[in-house]
Amino acid sequence: MIPAAAQKTYIKSPHHREILATLRSMTLKEKVGQMTQLNLDVVSVGEIYQLKEPHAIDTAKLIEALHNRKVGSILNCGGHAYSLAHWRSIQSTIHLISRQAPGTYIPLLYGIDAIHGANYLHEGLLFPQPLAQAASFDPSLVRRVAMATAYQTAASGIPWNFSPVLDVARHPLWSRFFETYGEDPYLVSELGAACISGYQGQDPSRPTQVAATMKHFLGYGMPHSGKDRTPTYIHPRQLREWILPPFMAGIRAGALSVMVNSGELNGIPVHADPEILTDLLRKEMGFQGLVVSDWEDIEKLVSVHRVAETYKEATRMAVMAGVDMAMVPNDYRFTDALMALAESGEVPMKRIDEAVYRILHVKHSLGLFKRQLPEPMSQFTLMQTDTFHKLHMESARSSWILLKNRNRVLPLSKGSALVLAGQALDEPFCWNGAWTRTWQGIDPKWDTINAGISLIEALQEHFQLVRTIPAPQSSGAGSMVNANTPSNQSQTAVVQAPLVVVLGEKPSTEKPGDIQQLSLSADEVAWIRGLCAAHLGPKILILVQNRPRIISSIDTLFDAILLSNQPGAAGTRSLSDLLHGGFSPSGRLPYTYPAHEHSLITYDHKHTERLHTDFSMNAFQPAYPFGHGLGYSSIRYESLELLKPLPAMESDSLRVRVRLRNEGSFTQKETIMVFVGDSVASITPPVKRLRAFKPVEIKAGTSLAVDLSIPFSSLGFVGRDLRQTLEPGWFSVQVGPLMEQWQWKP
Ligand code: BGC
Repeated sequence: MIPAAAQKTYIKSPHHREILATLRSMTLKEKVGQMTQLNLDVVSVGEIYQLKEPHAIDTAKLIEALHNRKVGSILNCGGHAYSLAHWRSIQSTIHLISRQAPGTYIPLLYGIDAIHGANYLHEGLLFPQPLAQAASFDPSLVRRVAMATAYQTAASGIPWNFSPVLDVARHPLWSRFFETYGEDPYLVSELGAACISGYQGQDPSRPTQVAATMKHFLGYGMPHSGKDRTPTYIHPRQLREWILPPFMAGIRAGALSVMVNSGELNGIPVHADPEILTDLLRKEMGFQGLVVSDWEDIEKLVSVHRVAETYKEATRMAVMAGVDMAMVPNDYRFTDALMALAESGEVPMKRIDEAVYRILHVKHSLGLFKRQLPEPMSQFTLMQTDTFHKLHMESARSSWILLKNRNRVLPLSKGSALVLAGQALDEPFCWNGAWTRTWQGIDPKWDTINAGISLIEALQEHFQLVRTIPAPQSSGAGSMVNANTPSNQSQTAVVQAPLVVVLGEKPSTEKPGDIQQLSLSADEVAWIRGLCAAHLGPKILILVQNRPRIISSIDTLFDAILLSNQPGAAGTRSLSDLLHGGFSPSGRLPYTYPAHEHSLITYDHKHTERLHTDFSMNAFQPAYPFGHGLGYSSIRYESLELLKPLPAMESDSLRVRVRLRNEGSFTQKETIMVFVGDSVASITPPVKRLRAFKPVEIKAGTSLAVDLSIPFSSLGFVGRDLRQTLEPGWFSVQVGPLMEQWQWKP
């Protein structure tokens, strides 16, 4: 299915000599140990998943792992977040004991999921979830958030982050939609690369940087059923058009590791697919870092995917496919199986050496051989400074998308009376989402640590709350409000005050986040209708959710709708500021907001997926389009000019000059997006595709000319031969309401 790979020769690590010297001195057991990654639970006091509290390392178990089994990596957080002091003591103990191990000294590589800030660190700032960051369309913001995350993670002594998710979210039902940068491959590529450069910096061996992990290679984010870890069917052309570009951008940004998709792609579990993990990733894309499996995925080749009869066979398949390190994570089965396979020659030494080479390359690139971990706290003077707190608030503010604002009901006057109803009023978890202090982010015990002030408290800073109406308790994943209609709600006393209704989706991720429908339940709708009927004042809906829940049945009841895909711990305060006009919203939808349960079509759809007037059939009627988002100011797009170099060479770029005017009274951040459409092509062209974007700030009453540039090569597509092709012909270039035609004639 993959065309003759470019067959790039294997790239030597800059640390080649040291790595070879280490490899020469290592025993087979040490090499197999390097390829093993264990869960922290395995070396902690207590039983796996039932650790004793407070958490403590079990020295005997740690000695078994590091001295006898020669384990090269540990991950995770033992169920919940810890203080900075505890993380540092865990890391010191690990490094002390690994230093005392007999044989070749190789530092341990500790990994964690710090996906929206150092979310497993009590002192860590909880930034917006990646999808909420993507609403900023601002690579610089994403990079700075990643730098701060790296900084706080590194301060805990952890040098490896399992982030960013580079899956392109093409199915809104998917439980990990909020972990992505949205549905568009170009946007995901730009923001993903920015995130990686924030984590790793120019030099990942600096004490404040961490290694990034591109995940999940490949095709995880487009499950056919919408359920997590279920099969994806992606034609090789679409794979190259939609799914590969972010990983290619990540490799160019220098990402040091990749995590494998837990699911199957076109019938083959990716963990057992050498075409994906070796031919494509290594030979064609030239990836040099380490490939780590996802959680327990070797075992799942036997128990779930059923492509191997025994664990040993599954181990052989995965290692031969290209897995360098197994996130085992709870026992030594992988280590035992791989030892036996290497001794019998079923896994050749060459393959083991190759995997260990890559692991050592990452350890050297992080400077682990030369560093002490954790680094002294004197390296981390920025930990609790204003710089980070300002960034925290800036990122939360940028996550808000104003979907509608009928009659400009927003902003409200400062000090006005409000009625507040809904979920997430006094719990922080909906604002922070999953991967917050715990995996699912909903354990109240751990979820309140530095998790932000409640919405009630935040609104009281600027408004007078005349009534709060909590939603009845929500139940499982995906539930928003759950109707036990309050009996007296129709007698609401303060019918004239603006009504603010908050729908916060209960956080969840992975399998626990699978849901059956995107629509609100009939009970939820009835509860909201009842509330709205009892209020005569302006009605404002606040959505804080994992994925786009269909709101068509209540949309028209509201004058204004604001959305954030989980803004983090500064979320409530940023909303309160936004409601009274402390700043103007600037977030844009990084995905298509569907209007109908069975019309889940992305913005870059084909011409057949839109209006056919003859047959009155319209398959593309989203509630709100990709890129949509209003501000309190109106921005007028005054002119669009195409500046083409002549003669045009394929290596040139098309320059687009746009003039904008801010006709309102707020300073406005406006994201200029350039969409390009190919009029005729040998593969049916999409209606349009995003090819450039730039956020700019325009002061009230002023105008601005902005240039953007689009390499001609990016106007092409993946042709029948699976290669990038640029065919001559006419293209439309669309910016805001303006459109120009342009002819590509080489
Ligand atoms: C998830 C990964 C995550 C890993 C380690 C898995 O279940 O799919 O994204 O990095 O766990 O926590």
